[in-house]
Amino acid sequence: MHAHEAGALHAEGYRGPSWLRTPVDVNALVPSLWATSVGRGGDGVLTVGGVSVTELAREFGTPAYVIDEDDFRSRARDFKQTYAEVFGSLSGADVFYAGKAFLCTEVARWIHDEGLHLDVCTGGELAVAIRAGVPGERIGLHGNNKSVAEIRAALDHGVSRIVIDSFDEIERVSAVASELGVVAPVLIRVTVGVEAHTHEFIATAHEDQKFGLSLSGGHAFDAARRILERPDALRLLGLHSHIGSQIFDTSGFEVSARRILGLHTQIARELGTELPELDLGGGFGIAYTTEHDPLPPKSLAAGMAEIIERECRADGVTVPRISIEPGRAIAGPSTFTLYEVGTVKPVDLDGGASRVYVSVDGGMSDNVRTALYDANYSCTLASRTSLATPALARVVGRHCESGDIVVKDEFLPADVTAGDLIAVPGTGAYCRSLSSQYNHTPRPPVVAVRDGRARVIVRRETIDDLLALDV
Ligand SMILES: Cc1ncc(COP(=O)(O)O)c(C=O)c1O
Repeated sequence: MHAHEAGALHAEGYRGPSWLRTPVDVNALVPSLWATSVGRGGDGVLTVGGVSVTELAREFGTPAYVIDEDDFRSRARDFKQTYAEVFGSLSGADVFYAGKAFLCTEVARWIHDEGLHLDVCTGGELAVAIRAGVPGERIGLHGNNKSVAEIRAALDHGVSRIVIDSFDEIERVSAVASELGVVAPVLIRVTVGVEAHTHEFIATAHEDQKFGLSLSGGHAFDAARRILERPDALRLLGLHSHIGSQIFDTSGFEVSARRILGLHTQIARELGTELPELDLGGGFGIAYTTEHDPLPPKSLAAGMAEIIERECRADGVTVPRISIEPGRAIAGPSTFTLYEVGTVKPVDLDGGASRVYVSVDGGMSDNVRTALYDANYSCTLASRTSLATPALARVVGRHCESGDIVVKDEFLPADVTAGDLIAVPGTGAYCRSLSSQYNHTPRPPVVAVRDGRARVIVRRETIDDLLALDV
């Protein structure tokens, strides 16, 4: 008998956020939240790629990021094929996987195998791409403050584009290109005054943020002029905009495409150069919980193509080759984090309700998005099924912060107990890549599963790893 099984769990009162429904079957999985191969075996244990989570926990320990390789690859392939098809009759399209979402050598290889390009934004991400054997012509370099060393490494490797983010970078990139005797292919990151954020986008006139060169202030046009004046060092491929994250429809793209194509046309008319490319950035939304309902890539791509074709026709310019930079929509849903429950305690809320606090063996060091962005996640009891009543639970970590929450609100079986395994889906993007060693916590491994076989693609850190940097 566990203390929390008593009446408080069933009290009336707070039932979590409005989108969270009390499940009819607390063991059922919501398919849109999980990688394709995830299900429950005959014994009720969660399985992925034909391997049960109890086996994974035994072999690799917890916490662990568990990635369904086929799911990751098929989302990457789907973007690549869809955009090639939809934009094939126009000027074509390239898909750059945004490595910031999650990158390691093996994942860079998958991206390359599946025919995608790779967007890196630091010398570190570039080093991973190079180690994975990704050729320069498949890599783009981003960042709002690239060092001379990073620019040199990128040009040495022959990257296909560097996205210029400031007037300083025009000078810096052209100096390095001249020193190396190459012409650097560049895009200009443009601040278009559109901000997309979960179900809504905001079109603003002000552009008060660190990325890009302002469209409304004329800086982006000025940057184009300055770049076109240096054909010996810089080749201007096109303009770039990225309007935010968790975009679920084309309304934000519609405004940003209209604005950026306006600049594209102004450059053609006033500077006499019709730029061959246009990058519309990433930000394609995924389902973290049942509140999210993302569009499949095909619908988004078709919507984007229609907008771009219409705007180009109206402006009398040729449709440029399009690129996009999805990160989360490829990496996010492919992965869940597997934790072991350490403690369970009921906490009384106002109005006679209560919530079960389930502490797991990870937390904000492996998933800081809940603390950082107030993100919502879902979870399930993974090591068994249960006939117990659904209880409103909060999954928390083991760190010394009360904001150390992994899943703010979810229904778990009321008999969840120490030693159970909990799986949190949708953790493939911005969890490992934003992870830390807070409280001197070694980072979890990334385990890839495919066809009944599991292997480590990033190993677990050890206490020796933590101590290795102390001088
Ligand atoms: C320039 C740029 N491109 C692409 C992305 C990837 O966004 P997402 O992972 O939401 O697709 C980001 C994310 O911050 C970005 O800044």
